[in-house]
Amino acid sequence: MAIKAFIFDLDGVIVFTDRYHYLAWKAIADELGIYFDETINHRLRGVSRMESLEIILEKYGGPKLREEQKEALAEKKNRIYRELLGGMSPEDVSEETRYTLRALRERKFGVALGSSSKNAKYILKKVGLSDAFDKISDGTNITKSKPDPEVFLKAAEFLGVKPEECAVVEDACSGIEAAKRAGMAAVAIGDACRCELADYRIECLKEILEIPMAAGG
Ligand code: BG6
Ligand code: MG
Repeated sequence: MAIKAFIFDLDGVIVFTDRYHYLAWKAIADELGIYFDETINHRLRGVSRMESLEIILEKYGGPKLREEQKEALAEKKNRIYRELLGGMSPEDVSEETRYTLRALRERKFGVALGSSSKNAKYILKKVGLSDAFDKISDGTNITKSKPDPEVFLKAAEFLGVKPEECAVVEDACSGIEAAKRAGMAAVAIGDACRCELADYRIECLKEILEIPMAAGG
């Protein structure tokens, strides 16, 4: 079936907020005396805030935390993260990224965001991309995060296209798995290139425009 729409992940594809996620979680981990490094951070890609906390707590040796304590930790992480996001500006998005999004829309493809983040709209506003997507599916409209396909299925629904008419662009293996479970084509960039389920692998975003399925709309 012909591809009619592209769904982009946000963190690690459009903007590089991974470092901020890492620094914010690292502050929480340090406070609790938990070992946390960049390798563990990879496992947090595409995963919701609360699930990320559970991954970090795997190395926690202290007394069992109550649900409200976990929520307080996740909120604290988000406050630190939002403070770091506050310094973002349009300069944090490359010309290449803006060009690729524009070119896909000029070719009449639907362009949506498919992100697990509840901060997605805030980030898009900070970097001046609020109008770059036809539809936004994010952490505020889902109950299950990647690798569950919900966020991408919602994006397809918002765009009014069938799942098999969508291609997902992802930097996380959890996102590639979610795309395949949704019945969509999966384009991997960055860390996701090691994921065997990926249909295409690209090194930079504008390579999407050369994939045959993006040639015409
Ligand atoms: C994803 C990130 O985009 O959003 C994850 O890859 C993050 O690392 C998730 O946990 C949720 O983000 P937020 O902004 O709602 O805490
Ligand atoms: Mg990502």
